[in-house]
Amino acid sequence: MRESKAVDLLRERFGPGPKPVVARAPGRVNLIGEHTDYNEGYVLPFAIDRYTEVALRPRIDRTIHVYTAAVDETFSTHLPLRTTKRQGGWADYLIGVLWTFSQAISLPHGFDGAIWGNVPLGAGLSSSASLEVAFAVALVRLYGLEVDGLELVKLCQRAEADFVGVPCGIMDQYAAYFGEAGKALFLDTRALRHKTVPLQLQGTAFIIVDSGVRRALASSGYAARRRECEEATRWLARKFPGRGIRALRDVDQEMLEGVREEMPGTLWKRVRHVVEENARVLAMIEALEKGNPEEVGYLLCSSHASLRDLFEVSIPEIDFLVDWGVKHGAMGARLVGGGFGGATLHLVPSEREEEYVMGIGSAYRARFGRDAKVIGVGTGPGAKKWHHG
Ligand code: GLA
Repeated sequence: MRESKAVDLLRERFGPGPKPVVARAPGRVNLIGEHTDYNEGYVLPFAIDRYTEVALRPRIDRTIHVYTAAVDETFSTHLPLRTTKRQGGWADYLIGVLWTFSQAISLPHGFDGAIWGNVPLGAGLSSSASLEVAFAVALVRLYGLEVDGLELVKLCQRAEADFVGVPCGIMDQYAAYFGEAGKALFLDTRALRHKTVPLQLQGTAFIIVDSGVRRALASSGYAARRRECEEATRWLARKFPGRGIRALRDVDQEMLEGVREEMPGTLWKRVRHVVEENARVLAMIEALEKGNPEEVGYLLCSSHASLRDLFEVSIPEIDFLVDWGVKHGAMGARLVGGGFGGATLHLVPSEREEEYVMGIGSAYRARFGRDAKVIGVGTGPGAKKWHHG
């Protein structure tokens, strides 16, 4: 890596020392396939051109110091890790990854480290997964470990689910590691295999508009939806014994129609979202292959309506941004990520991008009295491509 802000920071903070290892991992945007990953379904994320970079260099003792520019703080601990308590901040992602690593192997020495990144925090672009994956790749390089890519992804997901306490699926960490520039990843979260889908929609741009709303409900609401999906799976497995229902992935439209009157209404709506969202992922791949932005836009809007009305994870601020977009020239827009706040994804004609960005910002301010942050995103390589070409 030719230039590295994390290496500069490391030297600035900790002075001269041995040559550091450096790792990078990007954030992601999920084009479609929301709340399907923990139901063993399909997702279609792409890695973005913003990333987190981690530089680490060995120490002779067993102390760990890691400075992060984003919050201007240094986290310190020592090996073997004794405290496994959450601190409630960014360091939890590091402790989570370290903890998961140190359960499998003994880490012989400590390190000094620095983190730099330009993935906006908390904007639904998965800055957390990019930090986990970059840190995990850096640890692998620092200690010279043999860890297969998929194992590393699973380890990062476990760190977030078991340690940080967000029971997330595998999409974000997977995209941060396996993403490729110019392509979306069609990931089957049951098989844990992906195909790449070229992302070329001539004359269009993807824009992220962050509502700025961060709700404590985000993680509890997410966990509640997960529980509802598990409950619905048990209900349907009892109803259709012998049909091999292990996850909502195994449910089809026909089964769903058959239990409309009988199944508890809320659970029915959740399942309908998941079944149709999986189908929309497949339709999206076709639309991309045909290079048809109108069709892509239509699918984005259908996904949003489903997240709002069936899965019920939207909020008024997010609905406003999506509706405004559709009324003002976007081909499509939707909530991205887990919901209950966060950001929206808009597909707009490139030549109208500037006017669109100004318009949506002032409309949002007029309606809610706060600023929406607009972020233009392109695709970028995942950690694997950065490091192995
Ligand atoms: C969050 C989780 C993902 C996924 C999405 C919803 O981003 O980390 O695993 O479940 O929400 O699609």
